[in-house]
Order: sequence, then C-alpha cells, then structure tokens
Amino acid sequence: MWDFHRRRLTTILILLPLVLISVIACKFSFSSPLASGKKSSVSSFFDSGKYQSEKPLNLVEGVDDFHAQNPASSPNSVKKIEARLVKVRQAIKEAVPNRNMTSLHEDPDYVPRGPMYRNANAFHRSYLEMEKLFKIYVYKEGDRPLFHNGICKSIYSTEGRLISELEKGTLYKTEDPDEALVYFLPFSVVMLVEYLHIPGAREIHAIGNTVADYIKVISQKHRFWNRSQGADHFMASCHDWAPRTTSYVPNLFNNAIRVLCNANTSEGFNPSKDVSLPEINLLTGEITGLVGGPSPSKRPILAFFAGRLHGHIRYLLLEQWKEKDSDVQVYESLPKGVSYQTMLRRSRFCLCPSGYEVASPRVVEAIYSECIPVLISDGYIPPLSDVLNWKTFSVQVDVKDIANIKTILMSISQRQYLRMHRRIKQVQRHFVMNPSPKRFDFFHMMIHSIWLRRLNVRIED
Ligand SMILES: *[C@@H]1O[C@H](CO)[C@@H](O)[C@H](O)[C@H]1NC(C)=O
Ligand SMILES: *[C@@H]1O[C@H](CO)[C@@H](O)[C@H](O)[C@H]1NC(C)=O
Ligand SMILES: *[C@@H]1O[C@H](CO)[C@@H](O)[C@H](O)[C@H]1NC(C)=O
Repeated sequence: MWDFHRRRLTTILILLPLVLISVIACKFSFSSPLASGKKSSVSSFFDSGKYQSEKPLNLVEGVDDFHAQNPASSPNSVKKIEARLVKVRQAIKEAVPNRNMTSLHEDPDYVPRGPMYRNANAFHRSYLEMEKLFKIYVYKEGDRPLFHNGICKSIYSTEGRLISELEKGTLYKTEDPDEALVYFLPFSVVMLVEYLHIPGAREIHAIGNTVADYIKVISQKHRFWNRSQGADHFMASCHDWAPRTTSYVPNLFNNAIRVLCNANTSEGFNPSKDVSLPEINLLTGEITGLVGGPSPSKRPILAFFAGRLHGHIRYLLLEQWKEKDSDVQVYESLPKGVSYQTMLRRSRFCLCPSGYEVASPRVVEAIYSECIPVLISDGYIPPLSDVLNWKTFSVQVDVKDIANIKTILMSISQRQYLRMHRRIKQVQRHFVMNPSPKRFDFFHMMIHSIWLRRLNVRIED
C-alpha cells in the first residue's frame, strides 16, 4: 500500500559504512560535571535494503555518484540542511582513499588508527562532521512512564541510557524541529511491556497499537513524519520484542532508523538503515569496576562461558561442552564460590552465543574484561559494523562449528591472539557507557551510527 516511489526521498550514496522496573528509571550518577558537548541508499557493508534504488556505498569503497547539485539558495531549512550534507558526503568521500591505517585528522582526544577500523580516516572525518552538524529533535508528545523514560540498569540499560541522554539533551539536541536532521520517537518498549503486557499473553497488540497511535499523533501534529515517511526518524530499544512492536507501523519498520539490540536479520533488521545496539547488563547501573583486565600472560583458561539454556544455540553449546573440558570451560551455572567476573578475566576467549535473541550482553562483558569475544550466532549484525572490522578483534564461529570450537581457538597463534588483545583494549572505548558521555564512547558511537544512516537519505519538502 505504501508505495515507495511516492516517497519524496531519493536515495543517495554514501558512506562508511527483567528486571526491576523503577519509574524514575534512569537514576544514573552523573559524577563528572564536564558533560561535554552528539534514503536513498545507506551505508552498508552488508546487503543493501530492498528499497534502495541506488548502489549502496560504504566507508571502504567510498561515496560514489551522488547528487552534486547544490540546492542552497532557498530559504527553506530542509534545503539548507541537505545542501550542507552534500558537502559532508563529499568530505567523507575525499577521506576514503587514504588507506593509511591512521586517521590524518587531528584530534585532542583520540585518533582512530589500526586495522580494527574499516577506514580510520573516513570514520574520523565523518565523526568530526557529526560533531559540527548533527542535531536531534526529541518529540515532546507522550507521558511518562511509557515515554521519555527508560531503565538504566539491567540488561536493558542501553535503551534507558539512550532515551535519558537524549531527553537530557546536553548533546546534539535542538529545540527547533526545523533545524533537526533527525527526529527521536521517545517511547520505551521495555516500559510499554512492563505496563501494558498481560503476563503470559503471546500477542502484543496493546504495545504495538500504542506505538501506532503515537506515530499517528506525531504525523498529524507535525509535518516531519509525512515528509520523509519516517526515514529521518529513529527509535531505540533493547527489548526482544522491539522488532515486533515496530511492525505495527509499516513505515516505522521499513523506513525509520531502528536502533535495536535484537539486530536479527531474520526478523527484518536491515543493516543499511537500522542500527545494532549493544546489550550491556548493568546490575547497579554503574560501570565502575567493570572495565579492564589482566594481561594475556595472566589468562590460563582458553575459553569460558556460563549461562542458562536459552534458545537453540546455547542448547548445542551446552550439549557439546558443558563441564567436559578444562580448556573450554562451559557452565550452565558456575560452581559455588567461582566469580563470573574473575572467569572473564582469567580467560583468553569468551564465548558469546545468542540466547533467546541474537544479541548477548557477553559481547560487551568480554570487551570490558579484555577477553576476546567469540560470536556464535545466526543472522546477528554486531554493533558498529559499519565502522569496525570485527574480524580483527573477535572470532566468529558458525553454529555448525560449535563442536570445533577448541580446534578453532587453538589454531589462533599466540602472535595473533596478542594482536587481538591489543585491539580489544583499543576498541573498548567505543563500548564504554560513561556516566557522562565522553567523545568516541558508547553514546557518541550510537549517535554516529544514526548519523551515518541519515547521511544516506535525502529529504525533500
Ligand atoms: C600514515 O600516517 C602516519 C601518521 O600520520 C604517517 O607518519 C605515515 O607517513 C603515513 N603513511 C602513508 C603511507 O601515508
Ligand atoms: C500525514 O498523513 C496522514 C495520513 O495520510 C494524515 O492523516 C495527516 O493529516 C498528515 N499530516 C499532516 C501534518 O499533514
Ligand atoms: C532470529 O529470527 C528468526 C526469525 O524470527 C528466529 O527464528 C530466530 O530464532 C532468531 N534468532 C534468535 C537467536 O533468536
């Protein structure tokens, strides 16, 4: 019914490619007073979306063939914005051919370098442009606790942090919707589930319909949703049901930028327009004490996993390895007196199989503990895949190779392992959820992922 050709939107080129619920959910301690400063075709190192008519571009290959005409002189704000984006795309495009592994741009905080970046120079250029230009408008409609609110503890902490950081609005936020490059839909799927779902029910109509009603209100009161059919709008959720929830509004599912932990391509996750959100299980809401680990020589265990039998991949893993091998230590529950944190830090590789959904908090736990993550999943797009080359600091094991995990890991040379260990320490910063966002950390990198996807669409009035 909704016809893609009617969208006044052209594809452009580009780029780089439960929990206790408290109603005052995000009680984060903001310890630092220095809280600084946040379609056409989309970036993609993956498949391009079905509806993209133009060749998708990415950070590695560069930007190609984009609309070079400059619609500047109009007083119309969206035209001005688009005119600036033409220049931004050009700047990123020019940064691509430098294949030096070190960014050539100056930066007082951090200069991306190393093979972990698909293209360090293009990424850095894009990041700097984002800091100069990106503006987010947060819709004010909707009441707490379902809207403008999220939980900053527990397995859903990344959803809560994104919502609360955007609400606080120290970074990237604008109060003038005409100045915005993207529009945030501030509903929390975790909160909708908590308040509207009848325990045990399989259907989620109350949740999906609430979101549909919300989009209806937004599209009637403001002109921005209809203008792009959602393509410059985003939502964020770490709940397993977020993909289903968004399916109640076809344009939300198919056009909008969905920032999801459940980045399962078999559930409609489209890496060229959606953003993979890491899952970070923060028991206390704080990261204090979680980041850092011993050197490689103090890691006697080859591989480690502890977790319940959730889903078929874990079933295969536990069946094959549970308490059977002293090198590959796999537990359904840890022996008494053994600490999970300690195990992460004594291991060289940490197994991160999907559970009931594709994402696993173990990926970030491993990165924080400086243990090399071993991703075991089907159809999972890891976070920041458009910027980072996961193969250089993680291991991916196909589900069918679970029986060969030990052979696969043993075949990684000591030199290669040491390289990966060094790299994991370097990319760690991109996953750290600082109490107050710092440049290049989790929050800024998620915003950068959204920025990249916005660069891949052109909006017309
Ligand atoms: C790569 O960048 C480094 C650091 O800026 C510089 O010293 C080196 O000469 C560059 N190499 C090439 C091939 O451009
Ligand atoms: C957007 O489109 C919807 C459905 O066609 C319509 O009901 C609504 O009034 C439109 N909004 C605006 C601001 O024109
Ligand atoms: C990914 O989605 C497909 C389709 O819904 C589902 O069958 C599969 O179990 C999902 N993967 C995980 C790990 O949940």
